[in-house]
Amino acid sequence: MLCLGIETSCDETGVALVRDGRLIGEKLATQIDVHALFGGVVPEIASREHLKVLPALFRALIEECSIEFSEIDRIAVARGPGLLGSLLVGVNFAKALSLASNVKVLGVNHLWAHLLSPGLEQNLEFPSLGLLVSGGHTHIYRINSPESFELLGRTLDDAAGEAFDKTAKLLNFPYPGGRLVDEFGAKEKPDKRMFPVPYIHNENLDFSFSGLKTCVANYVNQNPELKIEGMVLPENEESDLSSKRNIMLSSFNYTVGETLKVKVGRALEKNSGIKSLIVAGGVAANSVVRKVMADCASRFSVPLILPPLRLCTDNAAMIAYAGYCLGKRGYYHDLSFEAIPRGRVVPTDWLSEC
Ligand code: KG4
Ligand code: ZN
Repeated sequence: MLCLGIETSCDETGVALVRDGRLIGEKLATQIDVHALFGGVVPEIASREHLKVLPALFRALIEECSIEFSEIDRIAVARGPGLLGSLLVGVNFAKALSLASNVKVLGVNHLWAHLLSPGLEQNLEFPSLGLLVSGGHTHIYRINSPESFELLGRTLDDAAGEAFDKTAKLLNFPYPGGRLVDEFGAKEKPDKRMFPVPYIHNENLDFSFSGLKTCVANYVNQNPELKIEGMVLPENEESDLSSKRNIMLSSFNYTVGETLKVKVGRALEKNSGIKSLIVAGGVAANSVVRKVMADCASRFSVPLILPPLRLCTDNAAMIAYAGYCLGKRGYYHDLSFEAIPRGRVVPTDWLSEC
């Protein structure tokens, strides 16, 4: 089965082709530079950028892979959750392609696609436990199969990636700062008592990062010299000040890692028969998160499955792969399926050929 994937849920425009579960081509256009001027994603600008670049990306992909459109069996598109205007660009493009070609279209849950993405390179066994840590979501799922995800826990306020980005912003780091918190924090050891590990003294599998954000904001307010000037990153700066800043970042990163470790450990304790732990989403690129999840997996003797770094953040390869997994089971949508904005549950309203 040859599946086309289309991703436009936030600020990355992507198209990819997956044949029988393997990636054969991919194009990605990031809008980071455009949004960096505003310190965060501006939804209307994001939609306009998708509209501008998507057709050319699609054409370039088809040419580069030397395929005829008639060879495609499914058109998979991220239908949500995400920015509504951005999603509408991808969903409408997918529907137009389907209408013009009679190839069946399939709306894919962007969050599930993140968690299935390691399947492009390794064998996934189910049931598995999935931790999705991205800019908009922090979810723990029991994944019974590529078509059956049970939500076990979620953030009650900010997502893990949001906490990283906001910490970076408090220090005037350029957008998107999550990766920089990781990079600069790695230069120092954490002070493990600097911030309390949030929302662990309970029995549930939910998360809360807003208290930690307040602790970081208070710390920065009390130590305003930590803020960098003019959004210019310190280069090879070896001073007490940068060391103090990096210790704070390392401590923040440690604290997020501990929260994730406690809740994922609890989920592994509560769920029997789990064959692997999958960790995905932008924050799965974080070095501390990768390390603590490896510890967690080894404590419960389950293999840890991580996407390669390039597949952690948004991309169309994961959408094409999720489309392939569902498409080969016979699922598709008719042309009336909706785009689902952030905050609403993405329905499993596929139709079936079988
Ligand atoms: O999955 P993703 O690309 O987009 C969403 O679906 O939200 O995740 C983006 C998030 C951003 O918040 C970004 O700062 C964060 O992932 N991120 C990181 C790292 N790389 C990306 N956060 C911490 N450490 C990293 N190395
Ligand atoms: Zn994402």
